[in-house]
Amino acid sequence: MKLTSDKKELEKYLKDQGWLKSAESIEAVEIPGEGNMNFTLRINTGSRSFIIKQSREFVKKYPQVAAPEERVLREAEFYKLIESEVKLNGMTPAILGLDKENHVLAMEDLGVGADYSFLYQIAKEIAEDELQVIMEFAAKLHTGVTVANTHTPLRNREMRKLNHEHIFQYPYMEDNGLNLDDILPGLQEEAEKYKRDEILKKELKVLGDLYLEDGNSLLHGDYFPGSWLKTKDGVKIIDPEFGHFGQPEFEIGVTIAHLKMADQPEQLVKKALQTYLEIAPLDENLRKKFTAVEILRRILGLAQLPLEIGLEKRKALLGESREAILSS
Ligand SMILES: Nc1ncnc2c1ncn2[C@@H]1O[C@H](COP(=O)(O)OP(=O)(O)OP(=O)(O)O)[C@@H](O)[C@H]1O
Ligand SMILES: [Mg+2]
Repeated sequence: MKLTSDKKELEKYLKDQGWLKSAESIEAVEIPGEGNMNFTLRINTGSRSFIIKQSREFVKKYPQVAAPEERVLREAEFYKLIESEVKLNGMTPAILGLDKENHVLAMEDLGVGADYSFLYQIAKEIAEDELQVIMEFAAKLHTGVTVANTHTPLRNREMRKLNHEHIFQYPYMEDNGLNLDDILPGLQEEAEKYKRDEILKKELKVLGDLYLEDGNSLLHGDYFPGSWLKTKDGVKIIDPEFGHFGQPEFEIGVTIAHLKMADQPEQLVKKALQTYLEIAPLDENLRKKFTAVEILRRILGLAQLPLEIGLEKRKALLGESREAILSS
């Protein structure tokens, strides 16, 4: 069944699941924040609140894009895998319940805080200690939850396939239906160069295949400002629906790409890498290539960000990224 925002319907559903007590009722239903992929609600009873998230067979913001209907079950598996890691578990929402039949996850409400997407705004900087916590979470995740100490590794192949398509293929397709000039005039012409770049595409194929390979470390899978929440209890991490055992270089590559697109000071980016490297190893050459891959796809692909950097800066980032991918 598809959930709606109708209070009466929701009340019945939540009571059937045992997530609302029989004496409880819903006072308010809210949309907790900017989500693109799933149907997510904050349920408020007046004395407590929690979040429910339903995954559906398409992307909520782009109904023409199909997506694995069961993906919230993978998200729940991720949370299960980190359950015994106190530090990691403490930085993610407690899980209140999972309805496997209807693909609904109920979880702790981490509060009305904002995610870190504000970093893309001109002159906004992340506090060094917050970035440190974010990098430590990733390092502990990658070193603490490995194939060697896991009973059934999370593969999440369907979500990886979807991501692979949007990272490695869609941005370079001749007629992908996206007019980048609607986003920023001049961007479409720039994109054409990359779409015709067969040398680049050959290297992208190698990196894409590596992304699809199973790795030894548990990755969050979508480790960018939209998955980091700034709450009164510090930084929290949400939305591991792309989680899988893979290459840490992919995860950190993505994170660094976003710090660059958010135009964060170079010193801060260096510090972030240092923090990570103090805890976990990384093939920096490969990490740089994945950073490049993410910059290219975010500037040229469907999953656009609220970037405020102008055309010249975007062109420069694209050019640097191409170089990084082609360097040996
Ligand atoms: N446990 C929570 N506590 C408080 N707010 C939450 C919680 N989970 C989600 N939110 C809010 O709802 C928004 C959407 O949640 P989430 O990112 O999990 O959904 P999504 O559909 O997967 O989004 P995306 O399209 O970015 O992948 C978040 O940005 C956040 O503002
Ligand atoms: Mg998501």
